[in-house]
Amino acid sequence: MTIHIGAEPGQIAETVLLPGDPYRARWAAETFLEAPELINEVRGMLGYTGTWNGHRVTIHGSGMGMPSLSIYVNELIRDYGAKTLIRIGSCGAMQEKVKLRDIILAMTATTLSTPSRGIFGDMNFAPCADYTLLRAADDAARAKGVTTHAGGIYSADVFYDERPDLNEQMTRHGILGVEMEAAELYNLAARHGCRALAVLTVSDHLLTHEALPSEERERSFGDMVEVALEAAFS
Ligand code: HPA
Repeated sequence: MTIHIGAEPGQIAETVLLPGDPYRARWAAETFLEAPELINEVRGMLGYTGTWNGHRVTIHGSGMGMPSLSIYVNELIRDYGAKTLIRIGSCGAMQEKVKLRDIILAMTATTLSTPSRGIFGDMNFAPCADYTLLRAADDAARAKGVTTHAGGIYSADVFYDERPDLNEQMTRHGILGVEMEAAELYNLAARHGCRALAVLTVSDHLLTHEALPSEERERSFGDMVEVALEAAFS
């Protein structure tokens, strides 16, 4: 047990999928894993371990934003030995060519700050995805007929941003989409020698103001879980 995770040693797999929402973790575990077992419910943050095609996997909520993700990912890596961590989440598109339901594979993530910012001093550390995971996820998504975009994203600190000029700069510099967690996941994976990737389904569009209806969010989320599982064990 750690401060935020109630699992016993050994109850968490080396491969962890990380949706932001704990109910999404439950839905994904009950839909895609064999024999899912609830291994954490501290503070309502749900984690499940089961098997997928014979491979042991944990699906654990990260919460929203980098401070929350940092708590869970630190404990998953340092206390439970997680080695491959894949964020499965939604994002807002920042380019015209990126459409609702497309999948963005984050090669890197720009930030104003991260929980790791303090250790880098004057340096702007460039966090990046694991290339083998990214390539396998791209193959898996394309095999499903889902359009993918690989490139930079923006991991924001605020959802209700009072500075729309920052979003404009991101769009101008080719950033594909905005979410709130990937950069710190990549920082932590780099620090601890783990593999990480963020697979993001486009749920809303910052330029066109379109948004996916909730039933379609579930289907897109399901595609993303399968893409992440196939990438992790390819
Ligand atoms: N901003 C930040 N995070 C998000 C968004 C957004 O527009 N959409 C989905 N996650």
